[in-house]
Amino acid sequence: MLREQQNFYYGGDYNPEQWDERVWLEDMRLMKKAGVNYVSVNIFSWAKLQPNEETYDFTTLDKIMNMLAENGIGADLATGTAAPPAWIARKYPESLPVDVDGTRLLPGSRQHYCPNSVDYARLAGALTRKVAERYHDHPALVMWHINNEYGCHIGECYCGKCQTDFQDWLKGKYGTTEQLNVSWSTDFWSQRYYEWEEIFLPGKTPTYANPNQQVDFKRFMSDSLLDLYKMERDILREFSVDIPIMTNLMGLHKPIDGFKWAPEMDLVSWDAYPDPHDVIPYAQFMAHDLTRSLKKKPFLLMEQAASAVNWRSQNGVKTPGVMRLWSYESIAHGADGIMFFQWRASQGGAEKFHSGMVPHSGDEDSRNFREVAELGQELRGLDELVGSEFDAQVAIVFDWENWWALELDSKPSDLVTYMRQLLAYYKVLHRLNVRVDFVHPSEDLTGYKVVFAPASYQASRDFAAKVTEYVEAGGHFVANFFSGIVDENERVYLGGYPGAYRDVLGIYVEEFAPLKHGEKHEIQTQYGDFDIAVWEEVIHLRGAEAIASFKDGYMKDMPAVAVNKFGAGTAYYVGTQPDSGYLERLLRDCLDAADIAPAFAVPDGVEVTVRRKGDVTYYFFLNHTDVTQVFPIGGTFAELVGGGAVADFMTLPARDVKILKG
Ligand code: GAL
Ligand code: ZN
Repeated sequence: MLREQQNFYYGGDYNPEQWDERVWLEDMRLMKKAGVNYVSVNIFSWAKLQPNEETYDFTTLDKIMNMLAENGIGADLATGTAAPPAWIARKYPESLPVDVDGTRLLPGSRQHYCPNSVDYARLAGALTRKVAERYHDHPALVMWHINNEYGCHIGECYCGKCQTDFQDWLKGKYGTTEQLNVSWSTDFWSQRYYEWEEIFLPGKTPTYANPNQQVDFKRFMSDSLLDLYKMERDILREFSVDIPIMTNLMGLHKPIDGFKWAPEMDLVSWDAYPDPHDVIPYAQFMAHDLTRSLKKKPFLLMEQAASAVNWRSQNGVKTPGVMRLWSYESIAHGADGIMFFQWRASQGGAEKFHSGMVPHSGDEDSRNFREVAELGQELRGLDELVGSEFDAQVAIVFDWENWWALELDSKPSDLVTYMRQLLAYYKVLHRLNVRVDFVHPSEDLTGYKVVFAPASYQASRDFAAKVTEYVEAGGHFVANFFSGIVDENERVYLGGYPGAYRDVLGIYVEEFAPLKHGEKHEIQTQYGDFDIAVWEEVIHLRGAEAIASFKDGYMKDMPAVAVNKFGAGTAYYVGTQPDSGYLERLLRDCLDAADIAPAFAVPDGVEVTVRRKGDVTYYFFLNHTDVTQVFPIGGTFAELVGGGAVADFMTLPARDVKILKG
């Protein structure tokens, strides 16, 4: 039985090995002041733990773990395998990754290992075993943290070992080269293979490489990294049956198929780095929902910056209140812990200008530390929230394999990117305070009143059948242009686009007519005319009713948006990229029809979400604006933090947050 999380976690990456031991004492004092109860240790300590292949030295880590235990701080203990020591690179140069140009990447930064290197895997496994043996029953141990941000820098490798492993992986997937030839459409451009050994990695080719070869390579790389994760996980499990095991994911991170990884972890976490120069970083908000959705369970925010990062061209600070507001954004979307990179800003090294919970000044009265400490103290009141479920109302389909396929070369328009399309819909739903889960195409849809599938270019026959059943039974389905176009082998569904959804949408698309970069046309709708961009197309109605039409060129007066009654349900089709003004009208109508409303009617710029535990409901109110907002809440509610109550009207100062219990 896995140990259950009891307290809301607060803390960060803690790297005391970079500091003199006298600083550690000050760390413990300041951690108490900041309400820190949980820290990630040993993420980048391999070189210190193992000076050569035969020798391990755990003196420093022993001291750190003991100090944490004495101070009642839990350890998220890393296996330490994310940055191999330089002696490994010297002794086993083939463990280094190779980029698409054939350049072997050098040690001296981090993550310099080929995902299929036998030597890296062997040495990482050996270190993991030592760490597990030594600390599996240490009193500070709360969680196992494998490696760090797999695929962050090295999401692919083009070395010879990866090539032969890719051939084996393909053998496993297709069985025979004939099957591969069919699935990869190799009769196009004379690409037929007779022997597995003829297959190269999709590196630099004279022109577009076979699309299936490219997507299979991405699947293979995600699987190769997952194998490394599982190798370490299995070793940890030999020693430790009740401690949760995970690695930190990266949200909207293309190389790692989160839905395939999540079942291998006991919980999911991610590292969020919104750009403080963005007023409302919707993509980051979307990634909270995506990460929670990987397991449909609470998650951990494993890293965020107290203020600025070091790796953008201009590193904006989080102005007063923003760190707290964005921390609560993740809690409001299902986080049961708020962690930072890192505890103390480093004195040297590449990340020395990355903010820490403790700034270079060490000043307890700095705004940076004060905000960190105040939040930490406040979050101690959140223990009862731990384990509560996010209460989603609608679903957006998310599929890494579709992301990979959609964004390959040779498409009608490279302006059609997955994030742009998902965000167009997510933003409107966020602003309307509709609570979103992301679902993988293999998941059940029946619990959701509306399912959105923007840019679901690649859709399997199984998924198409599921959508048909779902709508027939009364569901509401929303698809947009360039969705339902190809099957899982990237072969176009014939007989008129979008083959996968044609019947349920009651339309047939004859041709695509993408717009130029920056070009704006218009559509005419019952709500007036609205700008469109990116895409137009020729849509024929086959049962659906047009609710908007194009206004320009040869498509003038032809359908742009259509609604189809199908069985007991309704399917919406949006054949262009309308501005958010129109999308908001359309989605409001669709949500009304599906009987979906926000938990409270709140002013623009105020967000409200819901988490539930047993019969207790937690309502989160977040003011994303710069002014105080006052609005009715129709009753008296207890406040989760501070023990007060709010009656009839809520007064929410700029950037402030309140949690009410119902
Ligand atoms: C993360 C990483 C941390 C640190 C941080 C800086 O990607 O896991 O180790 O580098 O970024 O923002
Ligand atoms: Zn390799």
